[in-house]
Amino acid sequence: MAPIKAVRGVRDILPAEVGRWQRVEATARRVFEAYGYREIRLPLFERTELFARGIGDETDIVKKEMYTFEDRSGDSLTLRPEATASVLRAYIEHGFHVQPKPVRLYTLGPMFRYKRPQAGRYRQFHQANVEALGETHPALDAEMIAMLVDFFRALGLADRLELHVNSIGDAGTRPAYLARLLEYLTPLKDRLCDECQARLARNPLRVLDCKTPSCQPIIEKAPSILDSLSAEASAHWDSVRRGLDALGIEYVVDHRLVRGLDYYVRTTFEVLTRELGAQNAVAGGGRYDGLIQRLEGPPDPGIGFAIGMERVVLLLGEHDRSAAPAALLIPLGEAALRRLMPIARSLRERGVNVELAYGERKLQRELEHANRLNVRYAVIVGDTELEHDQCVLRDMKTREQRSVGLDRVLLELAPSRADREGGASPG
Ligand code: HAM
Repeated sequence: MAPIKAVRGVRDILPAEVGRWQRVEATARRVFEAYGYREIRLPLFERTELFARGIGDETDIVKKEMYTFEDRSGDSLTLRPEATASVLRAYIEHGFHVQPKPVRLYTLGPMFRYKRPQAGRYRQFHQANVEALGETHPALDAEMIAMLVDFFRALGLADRLELHVNSIGDAGTRPAYLARLLEYLTPLKDRLCDECQARLARNPLRVLDCKTPSCQPIIEKAPSILDSLSAEASAHWDSVRRGLDALGIEYVVDHRLVRGLDYYVRTTFEVLTRELGAQNAVAGGGRYDGLIQRLEGPPDPGIGFAIGMERVVLLLGEHDRSAAPAALLIPLGEAALRRLMPIARSLRERGVNVELAYGERKLQRELEHANRLNVRYAVIVGDTELEHDQCVLRDMKTREQRSVGLDRVLLELAPSRADREGGASPG
């Protein structure tokens, strides 16, 4: 019998990668909390109805991608395909709406969607998800987008990403625009891909973000929703843009950005990369005023986004050093080992991760070991160093080395905050 393997589209996150995950999670927490967001931890499954009503019956997610099952009492349950519906369910259930507005919440964790797996796309994946509830002011939209940009800046990724923003209007905008869009698309129907022909009847807005090459020339000439905004939606959109400009945020206005979930109104945004092939969205979100009420809650507006953590970790790349210990301590002989043991312990107590060799192998072998561990430094103590209570501190990348007093090792190895979060170059 063959050994059992993990389910298709579901992966283990191995130790070599976990350092990057921890860095991404720590950065998300720090940036979100700096803006006043607080963590909420939610269940991984909910009543199926919550997602059907929350995300929309006509969306791909609800129609084709949910992991739905009956439990032993016959209730229909679903592994959450996204977090927004669950956050709103909790907001309503726990009466959060009496708290000062906006109520700012974030949550990190796995989501589940049954899609064809490919690079950057999985059936269990992870999101860092943020929601601000109970406030319509457009400055909140701009501030939230700025927070998303700050997250990518803190990881040193901002230069490799592009921010796209759009407004898809509100209930007052939509019918007029859909009529214009249908008027444009219907005569061209035969030239659209099969899926878009079906969308034309069900949800014509979704034609705009079709990726099929043959549809592109048609989509490019489609009327822009920005030309159909109601006066109110238009004022909101202008104000969001003024906010982004005041914050110095660079963005591309992308009138095709309609998103794949049905709950959005007005502001929508995505962060895109050219480096991950077809899976080019690293984060996405927008406003969903009216959704809380549709879930039988108070008439509170909301806006949020989710970051795809796998894609961020992929962008950070394999050369990231954050998973590696800061140093390998290399004693050359028994006496040096005994001197380094308590030093290793006090470094670890102070938050510096180190590995200690045991003094039995030749220096050359230990340096090869240090290279394989991907440590930044080797701390070498032989008899001569021991005599002067010193070590040789070797930078494994530049191969430069110098003598340092053993009482100063902590100062040399303690990482700055920028190093830990990735301000430093990862290579
Ligand atoms: P979404 O665009 O469906 O939005 O997902 C957000 C991000 O999750 C995507 O940009 C992508 O990076 C990542 N993602 C989605 N599906 C997969 C997958 N199968 N494998 C790997 N990564 C994936 C939402 O989920 C909304 N709930 C966001 C939101 C929050 N809007 C308002 N509040």
